[in-house]
Amino acid sequence: MIEPVMLDSHVAATRLAGLLKDRRSSRSFTAHPVTKAHLSEILWAARGSSSETRRTVPSAHDVHAVSVSVAVSRVGNVDCGLYRYAASDHSLSMVTDEDLHPTLASACIVDEEWVKDSAAILMLSADFEKVNAEFAEQWPYGRRGERYAWLEAGHISQNVYLACAELGVGVTFVGGVDERLLPQAIGNIALLPHNHELLGLMPLGIARP
Ligand SMILES: Cc1cc2nc3c(=O)[nH]c(=O)nc-3n(C[C@H](O)[C@H](O)[C@H](O)COP(=O)(O)O)c2cc1C
Repeated sequence: MIEPVMLDSHVAATRLAGLLKDRRSSRSFTAHPVTKAHLSEILWAARGSSSETRRTVPSAHDVHAVSVSVAVSRVGNVDCGLYRYAASDHSLSMVTDEDLHPTLASACIVDEEWVKDSAAILMLSADFEKVNAEFAEQWPYGRRGERYAWLEAGHISQNVYLACAELGVGVTFVGGVDERLLPQAIGNIALLPHNHELLGLMPLGIARP
């Protein structure tokens, strides 16, 4: 029997170690808004630009296939509505001023109430056709890109978790969404960017202690 190699205990004093310890999923929010500064920081961490050419998140072929939309309900100085995040100039463009919280919450497979209570909901999505075409030469041909999109969403969501841990904002990644219950459009406005499929929701807000 080969003895396991016992590893050194982790360096608890690093900032990263502190954030990793504090990271958790929160599903109970107060009625307080999150600030615009909070949302800005969270979106930058999610997939913002860290330099002229680089992003805060890794991405196969650097294509950054995953988009982030935000349904805002209670964010200081940001009107209620649905927005698309642009990393290039770190901005939000409003798509509709409708409050989408009830719609998004009702598509969650389990326990939708806390989702409705969140201050904002990040929506991660990707165009599978486009990203599959980008990696068409890699086995399994025509499906590799989709895998990379899911993996990229995982990186983004961990960045969001760590940013929220630092800011004292509560968040949970919700993969359990029945997309069949989501409308394609609100009026004549598409819920997701053109041809995108939903990868997950991240409701966030000020967590109840
Ligand atoms: C891929 C994935 C899907 C998840 N889906 C849901 C979900 O649908 N609803 C939910 O409340 N939490 C969901 N979670 C959060 C997990 O339940 C949570 O991470 C787990 O219970 C561990 O708790 P912690 O994040 O506080 O460590 C999901 C997490 C991951 C990574």
